[in-house]
Amino acid sequence: MPPNKLYTDLSGYYDFMCADIDYQTQSQGVRRLHQLLGSDGCRHLDLACGTGPHIRHFVGFGYQSQGLDINQPMLDRAALRCPEAGFILGDMCDSELDGPYDLVTCFLYSLHYSSNIDQLKSCIANVHNALSTNGVFCFNAVDKTRINNSLWVTHTAEHEGARFEFSSGWYYPGYGDRQALKLSIRRTVGDTTESWQDEHPMVALTFGELRDILAPWFEVHVFEHDYGRIVPWDRHSGNALFACVKI
Ligand SMILES: C[S@@+](CC[C@H](N)C(=O)[O-])C[C@H]1O[C@@H](n2cnc3c(N)ncnc32)[C@H](O)[C@@H]1O
Repeated sequence: MPPNKLYTDLSGYYDFMCADIDYQTQSQGVRRLHQLLGSDGCRHLDLACGTGPHIRHFVGFGYQSQGLDINQPMLDRAALRCPEAGFILGDMCDSELDGPYDLVTCFLYSLHYSSNIDQLKSCIANVHNALSTNGVFCFNAVDKTRINNSLWVTHTAEHEGARFEFSSGWYYPGYGDRQALKLSIRRTVGDTTESWQDEHPMVALTFGELRDILAPWFEVHVFEHDYGRIVPWDRHSGNALFACVKI
């Protein structure tokens, strides 16, 4: 099965699936963190960029953006959305990144797509190598010990006569360094319903473990998962925003 089958086969649904995400506020929040913690350079790389919704905003802010993703169909859509940006097909854990970049981002928990802790370390080392002095690496993450397996987020939408229901949820078995992102799409036209299920294996770790991996490379700042406010992490939330400045 190709990696992240849903993104390959159903890339056409992706933007629709994410229609509730406030990409503008997320991008503004990260831009603000970059202004506060980093340099005033504008070379930007978005890892696991998908269809490029954040890149659209960063280009609008004046960044010279590039996006990297493992799925060509996602990049094809990103290139249409952001003709000013450059796009690279690759695995963020294995690819040597051409730098230097002043800002590297990785949104929507996509850093967890590293398949294990060693791959995650390799990805972080690649980012560190590709950043300029004072460069900032910004991403969001979930702490495995705070995952609620019964929590699903669902939203519905109407499109061209069809009713869609999109659901996603984390699953952590309670041990080890693997968690899963469960995704489901149901499409109903009249009384016919089609459904797609996908389960993505992802790396699982605690925020303490993540900090320990980052600490030799970066000055690590952890914030509440609220792109609109930028306040320090309260040490209880299971989701957080990491802003890491290259040492
Ligand atoms: C949840 S989507 C996020 C897309 C975009 N960042 C956003 O916020 O809408 C995850 C993306 O990660 C990509 N991806 C998964 N594993 C990857 C890897 N190892 N290297 C690069 N991209 C990867 C998928 O193709 C998909 O486009």
